[in-house]
Amino acid sequence: MEFPQRFRTRSLLLQRIERGDLDDFLRMRSDPRVTQALGEPRPGQAAVLVHKLAEHWQRHGYGWWAARDPDSGRFLGCGGLRSATIDGAPETEVAYGFLPEYWGRGYATELARVAVAQGFVRLGVRDIVSFALPDNRASLRVMEKAGFTYEREFAHAGRLHVLYRLEVDAWRIAPLQRPASQSHTQAVLQAV
Ligand SMILES: CC(C)(COP(=O)(O)OP(=O)(O)OC[C@H]1O[C@@H](n2cnc3c(N)ncnc32)[C@H](O)[C@@H]1OP(=O)(O)O)[C@@H](O)C(=O)NCCC(=O)NCCS
Repeated sequence: MEFPQRFRTRSLLLQRIERGDLDDFLRMRSDPRVTQALGEPRPGQAAVLVHKLAEHWQRHGYGWWAARDPDSGRFLGCGGLRSATIDGAPETEVAYGFLPEYWGRGYATELARVAVAQGFVRLGVRDIVSFALPDNRASLRVMEKAGFTYEREFAHAGRLHVLYRLEVDAWRIAPLQRPASQSHTQAVLQAV
């Protein structure tokens, strides 16, 4: 089943990330509040990442989206799924980042939920991981709100990270415990 390249969720317009999104991505990644959460980017690191994210779509047929305001088209942030190797094992990872002026509006949670729904329904993966530095409380909270649970700590890029995981069976029963307005099924339907 094809992974959507461009679609609207309740608050976001999500579009397959392209090399042309680099300036917006750089603006976000170089903001002091973002570097505080993720660390100072090495010179050229952001450009390499955007290049890799664009290439990921070409190679795997899914990936990250740039998230924009549906009315103005203004860049808000980005995120989505990508393949990752963690302690030698292949994984599907969800990640996200937004410009600080848009934090606290539920955008990252909305994007994470939609990405997870797409991963389970369209890619047919059995589980999805997410990870963050232990003191990145906002990111850990987004994982929890998207249904992920703590698995373990692991070393990534030379730093200790916490790994969270969501299995498809747990995700399937989650809508029964949530208000209908937040159901996973709705997230997938919106994207069709
Ligand atoms: C992490 C990030 C994407 C969250 O984006 P967001 O759109 O603000 O996320 P949401 O609004 O969906 O949810 C944020 C949640 O974290 C909570 N939160 C924010 N800061 C917090 C803190 N310091 N301690 C505890 N909780 C915090 C919010 O209250 C909210 O939870 P709630 O809905 O229960 O109140 C954003 O902070 C960001 O871009 N950070 C820099 C990049 C980054 O760290 N990305 C993740 C890499 S692993």
